Amino acid sequence: MCGIVGYIGHRDAYPVVLKGLQRLEYRGYDSAGIVLYDDKDLKLSKTKGKVADLKAKLEQEISTNGNLGIGHTRWATHGQPNDVNSHPHYSNSGDLVIVHNGIIENYDALKKELKTRGYKFHSDTDTEVLVNLIEDVQVQEGVKLGKAVQIALNQTVGAYAIAVVDKKKPNEIVVARLGSPLAIGVGEDEYFVASDASPFIEFTNNAIYLEDGEMAVVRRGKGVKVRKIKDDALVDPYVQELQLNLEQIEKGGYEHFMLKEIYEQPNAIKDTYRGRMLANKGIVKMAGIDDNIDRIANAKRILIVACGTSWHAGLVAEYIFEDLARIPVEVEYASEFRYRNPIISENDVIIAISQSGETADTMAAIKLAKEKGAFAFGVCNVVGSSISRETDAGAYTHAGPEIGVASTKAFTTQITVLTLMALKLGKYKGTISNTTFMYHLQELNTIPDKVEMVLQNNEHIKAIADIYKNARNCLYLGRGFNFPVALEGALKLKEISYIHAEGYPAAEMKHGPIALIDEQMPVIVIATRKGHYEKVVSNIQEIKSRKGQIIAVVTEGDEEVRDLADHVIEVPESMESLSPLLTTIPLQLLSYHIAVMLGKNVDQPRNLAKSVTVE
Ligand code: AGP
Ligand code: GLU
Repeated sequence: MCGIVGYIGHRDAYPVVLKGLQRLEYRGYDSAGIVLYDDKDLKLSKTKGKVADLKAKLEQEISTNGNLGIGHTRWATHGQPNDVNSHPHYSNSGDLVIVHNGIIENYDALKKELKTRGYKFHSDTDTEVLVNLIEDVQVQEGVKLGKAVQIALNQTVGAYAIAVVDKKKPNEIVVARLGSPLAIGVGEDEYFVASDASPFIEFTNNAIYLEDGEMAVVRRGKGVKVRKIKDDALVDPYVQELQLNLEQIEKGGYEHFMLKEIYEQPNAIKDTYRGRMLANKGIVKMAGIDDNIDRIANAKRILIVACGTSWHAGLVAEYIFEDLARIPVEVEYASEFRYRNPIISENDVIIAISQSGETADTMAAIKLAKEKGAFAFGVCNVVGSSISRETDAGAYTHAGPEIGVASTKAFTTQITVLTLMALKLGKYKGTISNTTFMYHLQELNTIPDKVEMVLQNNEHIKAIADIYKNARNCLYLGRGFNFPVALEGALKLKEISYIHAEGYPAAEMKHGPIALIDEQMPVIVIATRKGHYEKVVSNIQEIKSRKGQIIAVVTEGDEEVRDLADHVIEVPESMESLSPLLTTIPLQLLSYHIAVMLGKNVDQPRNLAKSVTVE
């Protein structure tokens, strides 16, 4: 999630921090803010909108001198994008100020406790809770900022990269990280803190990258002291000399945003269920569902409206919802639904799935359904987006900004949210046993590590891509929960390599598509152990007997398909309903490598936009 920049040293902090925020704009954000210390007091300005808006506002509001400052670009998770919820946030006393990337899961409980001690809150954010917790510790324990931050963080659950300043001691910045990145630029008696090195690479290429669970006190004239947050153990910081250029830093060292986002999926899935699922306690809590549980659980029908990849996630959700919650589901292309005079009643619930939250067809479908009395639920990735505001309730994916036009982590995090919803509803309706509920939660908890294992196939998949990069057509086949994955795999290949590809239910081959099979036709088949395996093996044999080239996605250890296919890509064993979270990864990588080998513009493919706000 978004961006942090801080500076302490001999320069004017304002231009350094402002330009640093501009360097972080590529990460996607919805608001921005800066606080400066001018040897007398903290001066803060923040706004919803762009860094350019912040610059215009700040230079009207506050003087810009001082050589200590911290800034932030926000990707909202708790509280709409608006001026008040933007960072930095003051503590109640006005002495402390914080910027934060990440999610404090237990912010609600902490907020309630702090309120009993008289703390007031002006924003809806989890971040403002954290800065007041730090202040409360400082007051209660009579400790310095660094110690207060450490004690406070040990009371939190969640993910963070933070920078905190105390105006009572304006010669230091305290930083900490767990789950969100933080780098410290080490200059000549000047220090920079940032989410990555892009804000300070022009000043120094000496950087300390904090590890998860570490914090640091960056003190003017005294250097950087790094400690473990948990046990206070001192850490000897490793100052590395960076060889990266700016563009490489923005992409996290990856060649393209799409590849970076494919590799972010383990964390994106974890961030999406973080704070919503306590697997070992059998708890799923999602405010959008909990507050409307009867309205949704008693729906006569769930209508899912979406476009593109989000529509494919909706198809996966159809299988999951009907399997677990036993509610009839219909999945509709929003662009068709809105024009076909559909039959909708107040007994219907419509679920709109949209990464951008701005897709015009999806928005129009929601409005139509609401006019006819349906309850609208949104699954979006952009907090405060139009669709998230139009729907009656919702649940955000916490995938973080998705820059590549081809959707990857949005797809897997949408399925994660929809799976949690179906489990919640199934448990509430009693259509699944507690055993089934717990089994799903425990298996979902293993998915991020299993996705990491699938990603280790990258070089193998790249070698396969090299063999098939000049194909003119491709077929993707899957059954059950993996039929939508076949459609998604085909879309990925089409949209970034411009090779024609189609996805089909594997059993549908004999109704026509099998006529296409010959030695020029690569067929990607999802043949995981759980999910009509024997039937899919028969389909593979049909293809093989017609000289089709077969690339099979199989469960690790599979020997039977290995003997039949030309290439196999292994994924770890998982339950069928969660297998799309694993089987889609090889298809993302395959299309990525083919497109790169063909010299295509992977992050901005021709004719495509990241958000289709036109009809
Ligand atoms: C998928 O890779 C494409 N970028 C596209 O199909 C996209 O999924 C579709 O336009 C829907 O966008 P949304 O999720 O932002 O509504
Ligand atoms: N959770 C915080 C908020 O919603 C930080 C979000 C971010 O990472 O930018 O304000």
